[in-house]
Amino acid sequence: MKRGFKPVRIVGGIITVPGDKSIAHRVALLSILAKDKFVVSNFPENADCQTSLDAAQKFGVKVEKNKDGMILTPPESISLDENTIIDCRNSGTTARLLAGIIAGSDLIATLSGDDSLSNRPMKRIIDPLKAMGAEIYSDNERLPMKIKGSKLLSFEYRLPIPSAQVKSALLLAGLASSSSVTITEEILSRDHTERLLEEFGHGIEIRDIKPELVPDEYDPRKKRLIMPEDFKKEIILKSNSAIDGGHIDIPGDISTAAFFMAAAAISKQSLTINNLGLNPTRVTFIEHLKAIGCQISISEKQTISGEPRGNVTVTGSDLKARRILGENSLGMIDEIPVVAVLACFAKGTTVIRDISELKFKESDRLFAIAENLKLAGVKCGLLEDGLAIEGCSEFNGADFQSFGDHRIAMAFSIASLFAVGPSSIDDSSVVEISCPNFYEILNSITK
Ligand code: S3P
Repeated sequence: MKRGFKPVRIVGGIITVPGDKSIAHRVALLSILAKDKFVVSNFPENADCQTSLDAAQKFGVKVEKNKDGMILTPPESISLDENTIIDCRNSGTTARLLAGIIAGSDLIATLSGDDSLSNRPMKRIIDPLKAMGAEIYSDNERLPMKIKGSKLLSFEYRLPIPSAQVKSALLLAGLASSSSVTITEEILSRDHTERLLEEFGHGIEIRDIKPELVPDEYDPRKKRLIMPEDFKKEIILKSNSAIDGGHIDIPGDISTAAFFMAAAAISKQSLTINNLGLNPTRVTFIEHLKAIGCQISISEKQTISGEPRGNVTVTGSDLKARRILGENSLGMIDEIPVVAVLACFAKGTTVIRDISELKFKESDRLFAIAENLKLAGVKCGLLEDGLAIEGCSEFNGADFQSFGDHRIAMAFSIASLFAVGPSSIDDSSVVEISCPNFYEILNSITK
């Protein structure tokens, strides 16, 4: 559905956003392996998480809703017909995490997806899962992919790319097969799977490698900081690990909130998002807002169900450009489309690098951003591993394209509010993938 926009005034206010999509996927899929039921509050109603719930139901999970939220009752035993096809639709998280569960179980199933998901790389999970002992068949290391699971070997793996989906697939494979898995990460990726296993299960150990002060070899009066290992985190899942079940409350999704925070930042207004997830592996966007000139204050900080959260107020101001590299860009991999929009309204040239991964999301996001910025008359360089965006010139209204990607549609919906002249987005219904009430929330903070 094409949606038109006219420039509006952001008035700010107080909002909540739906529950975190990454956490919800994990709860839905972990319920396949859980020993007891999960009672989940604030489970988000969006197409992606519904895909994980539907998949879990195929494995025998019972999904019910009552006044306390959603109840996920695990199956007593799992059996699948070997011709079972599980449609993962648009959801990379469903496909990759489920691949791990099937690989570690005594099951045969085929994973399929829509056109976008069928074009996304699966080699990143196929290689390590095969090395653990699973049999995986696919034509071009993409979906559809047939998986024959078995009792897997214990496995040690250093993540070659910072991917929480790969990390989680291997942990779930180990959990399903009662095999030990050790993963080391050089660049930290989101850690919701580990937190759920720590909070609602047992058998997982996390070693955070912190810099150490050691005597300087050339001048013993001085000390210098070194990293004692060449990685930052070691995750050890023991062979006797299990996930029990329990009550989980999901905080608001920071990757959805980012769009509304950006609107407040550009319009120099204040916006508060209550009960927002503040997991340290997900807050890089908040650090970015501070770095480009916004004020951030956080109240009511607390940790529930192993996940920190709080009420976050962002107040916009004159925005300035910055160079964003390495952990700083990878830490906000899902927020880059809206970081690009912020760059258009910041003084100077924003350079974002080390994000080649964006080519393999729901769309080629680097290309999608560059194409839309071209339509708006913004100078944008498409780099091999990122973008360079010149800010503060006029952002012209245009007929923007979503490329079938929810985050591209949301980012250019926000940009359209500040454009000179009317704009449109070709298919605004794609926001249903992560936030079906996106435009309602947006209307509540605009006039
Ligand atoms: C996700 C991990 C990230 C992220 C995706 C959700 C997850 O993908 O971009 O939207 O829930 O684990 P990668 O693991 O491919 O980096």
